Amino acid sequence: MARRRQLYEGKAKILFEGPEPGTIVQYFKDDATAFNAQKKGTITGKGVLNNRISEYLMQRLTEIGIPNHFIRRLNMREQLVREVEIIPLEVVVRNVAAGSLATRLGIQEGTRLPRSIIEYYYKNDALQDPMVSEEHITAFGWASTHDLDDIVQLTLRVNDFLTGLLLGVGITLVDFKLEFGRLWENDEMRIVLADEISPDNCRLWDLKTGEKMDKDRFRRDLGKVEEGYQEVARRLGILPEAGVRDMKGPEVMQ
Ligand code: TMP
Repeated sequence: MARRRQLYEGKAKILFEGPEPGTIVQYFKDDATAFNAQKKGTITGKGVLNNRISEYLMQRLTEIGIPNHFIRRLNMREQLVREVEIIPLEVVVRNVAAGSLATRLGIQEGTRLPRSIIEYYYKNDALQDPMVSEEHITAFGWASTHDLDDIVQLTLRVNDFLTGLLLGVGITLVDFKLEFGRLWENDEMRIVLADEISPDNCRLWDLKTGEKMDKDRFRRDLGKVEEGYQEVARRLGILPEAGVRDMKGPEVMQ
């Protein structure tokens, strides 16, 4: 079998050239890093779960008209996506104070924010992804004001939709990170959602107990990391119990 050409290896995924022009295969690894890769480890089964969770959420977003790069899942660890030009920004949305916001501004973790807050970080490992403002983004040409308008609109829609979807299965969407890319079709450019949406880049707390079900279990050495990711998949009704064909719909919490 011909080996596929590897395009890029990131901390949690490897990108390969796809079978058709304009497509890419995203391979989900079990590797986990935190604090700009100062902490490294593996979470057994994480790649399989993130591949499935991200597929599920991207499909639900497609259904409500949020353009994204997802085409289809290929197997347990790989999905086919459209090739996009990644905008070098990490777009973070926060609904509840946690993580760096809680630390930086001295706000008690768990405090509900008066409204959803969007933050931008410049995607640059060597600089440790510094926080930037709209001024930096437009001045340095990473995105135009028009691109940013689209990004904010899409981000707020994703936040509202995912907040409701997760609330329905007993999970609080505390915060999460999105990435966007430019997709050209004919001569038209569209901003689309890219990367992944999974417990690697969301904070997900049990609605009743506040228990963490995301990468903070790894970052903070809380144990039962894989179990947290599995519980998210189970509640969404997509934990493959008897193989990948056994997938139920979401389990509604009372
Ligand atoms: P933070 O509180 O550490 O700034 O993280 C905010 C959200 O962004 C949280 O859901 C985790 C996610 N995130 C990433 O996906 N990648 C990153 O490199 C960082 C720092 C955070």
